[in-house]
This record gives sequence, C-alpha cells and structure tokens, in this order.
Amino acid sequence: MRETGDVDLSLGDDLRAFVDASPSPGHAAAEIARRLTAGGFRELAETDLWELSPGAAVFTVRGASVVAVRVGTEPTAEAGLRIIGAHTDSPTFKVRPRWDVRQAGYRLVGVEPYGGGLWHTWLDRDLTVAGRLALRGGTTTLVTLPGAPLRLPSLAIHLDRSVREGLTLDPQRHLQPVWGADLGTEPGLLEALSTAAGVSAGDVVGHDLVLADTQPAARAGADGSWIAAPRLDDLACCHSGLLALLGVSAETRHTQVLVCNDHEEVGSGSASGARGSFLEDVIGRLAGPEPQAFARTIAASKLVSADMAHAVHPTRSERHEPSHQPVLGGGPVLKLNANQAYATDAVSGGWFTERCEAAGVPVQHFVTRADLPCGSTIGPLTATRLGLSTVDVGAPQLAMHSVRELASAEDVPLMVQTFRSCLGTTG
Ligand code: CO
Repeated sequence: MRETGDVDLSLGDDLRAFVDASPSPGHAAAEIARRLTAGGFRELAETDLWELSPGAAVFTVRGASVVAVRVGTEPTAEAGLRIIGAHTDSPTFKVRPRWDVRQAGYRLVGVEPYGGGLWHTWLDRDLTVAGRLALRGGTTTLVTLPGAPLRLPSLAIHLDRSVREGLTLDPQRHLQPVWGADLGTEPGLLEALSTAAGVSAGDVVGHDLVLADTQPAARAGADGSWIAAPRLDDLACCHSGLLALLGVSAETRHTQVLVCNDHEEVGSGSASGARGSFLEDVIGRLAGPEPQAFARTIAASKLVSADMAHAVHPTRSERHEPSHQPVLGGGPVLKLNANQAYATDAVSGGWFTERCEAAGVPVQHFVTRADLPCGSTIGPLTATRLGLSTVDVGAPQLAMHSVRELASAEDVPLMVQTFRSCLGTTG
C-alpha cells in the first residue's frame, strides 16, 4: 500500500506530454528522436557507415520505428546487449488513398481500421488526422490537422432501439468519420493537410495518416494519480524505456539498446516491425564482422519486451485469473503464458525479478484464465527471430485498446527504475 501524499506525479505528467506529442506512430518516433537528440544521442542513417566507439550514444530510424544504442565498454560478443523493446503504434483508423467520400449531403473521410480497437469508444469523440506525408523527391513531413475537425457520430437511440441489446458496428458502413457538409467547393483533405504542413499540395505523393483523438491526456482519479490518455499501449512503455536509457549516468560493460517498433498491433510483419530485420541489422553492426560475433552477442543478451498489461477491472474482476490480478500503481507486471504467447521463461523471468529487487520495485504477475485466449507482444516474435533470451513485462492499465485508456502515474517511476536496473545502470 502506498502512503498518501507521497506520490510523485512529475514523470506521469511527462508521460502525458509524450502522448500528446505522439498522435501517430510517425510522431511518436519523431518525439523519441527529439528527446534522444536533446539527451546527447547522435542520429545515424542506415545508409551511413557506422564506426562506434565505447560510450557512443546513437540512434537510427526506420519508418516509424527507432533503435537507440549506448555502446558498452566491452565488445558485444563478450558482454552482450541489454535491450528494452516497446511499440509505437496503437489501434486506430488509417486514411484510404481515395479518401473523399460524399453521401447524404456530407463529406466523409474514407478510413480502414488498423489493429484491434474497441471501436465503439471512438464514437462522439473530437478527432483529427495525423501522420506522415511523402513529398515529391523522396522526403517526408509530419502533419496534424489543427482543431478537431472529424467525428464519428452515434446514431440516436430513437432511430435504433436495438442498441440496448448491444451495439454492432460495421467498419465499412458505420465507422467513416464526417468532416463537413458537401457543398462541392471545399478544399480537400490533402489541401488542408498541405496547408497545415506548409507544403504545396501538388508535392504530396503519398501518405500514412491515421485518426487521433484530440483530447489531451489528463490526470484522473480521486487524488489525480491516474492518467487518462489515448495510446498508453504502448507509448507508456516507449516513454519509460526512453527515460531509463536517457537517465543513465555511468557506462556499462554491456551495450544498452532501446527498440521501439511500429506495426505491433497488426502482427509486426513489416520492414520496421518486430518480425522484420531492423533490430537484427543494428545488432549485426554492433557485433561487427568476426564470424561468431553475432551469435555470441545474441547468446550474451537479454530482451525486455515491454508492452502494457491488464490491471484487474473494478466491475469485471472475474475475467482475471483469481490469483493473478495486477493493480494500478502496483508496479511492473511480469507476463507468463504456458503456450508461449509471452516469451518469459524461468531464467528470463528470474533475471527480471532480480532486477526489480535491485531497484527496490515490487513485481506483479499476469497470466490469462485457462478458459480465455491470450494476447501477444513483440517478445515471442523477436525471441523466435533472433533467439534472444526474452522476458515479457508491462505496466498495468485498464481499457486497453480504447480510444481513452487508464493507467497510474505511480507506475511510471517504478517502470523507469526497473528499466534502468534492466539496462544495468543501477543495482
Ligand atoms: Co501493446
């Protein structure tokens, strides 16, 4: 039990700022890059020749994924890597190439669901469009439409009484946001985005655009120690991992790595996703050309797959396994699954538990009920691809995949301390 009046909310407030700065995966990657740069990390392109000496702090970006590295004092084949992994994407809707839909006197923006969202939570919210524009000549720019121009209005109960038996939403017909009356003369979405980005509409040749809720992240709960925000899964773990890496004061023997992947919510199968080669390519550069260096590096390394965990629900606690009910503010959650939906095993879980002990942080445990299927994370995918010893962990939260999720600011410093301990900089 925590003692009241003893709660430091400052890191939780910083998480809220991080989420607000990250309406799309591209924005999240840019915010991570901005904070890394401010913290003394140097950006390298994947096309550069990397020559890294001990103590070098660098990062590289592929799509909306980021890998950051602080090189250790010994070769990676000798001392290995300590890796924190999280994901930059969240369930949302992606704008279609031919987005301009006109019906019933309205203009709509054609979108396609991305990931497994609780889509009903998106109704009647103040929405915008955010993401990346590809420009003629091969450059990109990030953009967000100002204000909250889009909505997904509910249907009045008077027009559909059957909603009392349960709401059914067909994404093709019912989940297309409206953004105005069809007058026939309005500027299009790309014109509005181009104006917001300060570029010429004629130079926009492609886009990765998603819907985003515009309500800023807020303090919540009786004492303000909770955080109500979009995209906590998994921006909260990106944020804690980033603060842990940036907060390091001493060099370590091993090399410290933070990887934040895009596309986790759709199975990670992409060039920048966890089933792609991004992390492997960076590890290859860190290990160097000696024939056995890569395999020795992997064998000496640990991956902490950090993705949000389910806190027990206040009115639906029967959905949790009775002996495994993580609580908000109770600290990091170690996730296990007999069928390997999580990558944790005795050794990796034990190692993580020791790191928590060293940091003075309590550990909670999560398993799904035996009669419920289990979600997954980047952990088993990365472990399968690379053979890394991996532990699946997360911070507790409620309402995962809602447009407005709920976590505790008390868990933010606990996660940061834990990840620092995992990176080997404390304890
Ligand atoms: Co997640």
